Amino acid sequence: MKITFVLNGRSRTIDAPPLARLLDVLRGTLGLTGTKEGCGEGECGSCTVLLDGVPVNACLVAAGQCDGRTVLTVEGLENKDGLSDLQDAFVTEGGAQCGICTPGFLMAARALLAGNPQPGEGEIREGIAGNVCRCTGYQRIVESIRHAGKERASREPG
Ligand code: FES
Ligand code: FES
Repeated sequence: MKITFVLNGRSRTIDAPPLARLLDVLRGTLGLTGTKEGCGEGECGSCTVLLDGVPVNACLVAAGQCDGRTVLTVEGLENKDGLSDLQDAFVTEGGAQCGICTPGFLMAARALLAGNPQPGEGEIREGIAGNVCRCTGYQRIVESIRHAGKERASREPG
């Protein structure tokens, strides 16, 4: 099946079985290995990407569902100067250790901050509730997301 979608801001057409997992299409067909596979069954969030701006588990999404839609992966977060502010905040605050969960947290955080630029701790924890980390204890991740929100607010006063 020909599947056409906008991937990280660029229109792409691929030929893939409609029931192929989006995760396999991204990592295999398209070589975007930033999206990670943890559990493979919708439990860990490490494969999180944004589909039309909404976080989804790429291990549970069929490639055919993406036809005519927009997909954003962790590779699409960078800007022309390099890491985005959100990615920088994870570095600054120590929100990443082994890193297997990090792309998923970044994508969940991206969606959260898009709708709520300065979330409180409870809102952040709710926003990342579908993502599991075995290393950080979560507090550094929460601080990273809060840091990113504050950075943005400081540049866009009022
Ligand atoms: S690999 Fe998709 S949710 Fe765990
Ligand atoms: S940084 Fe290792 S699982 Fe989250």
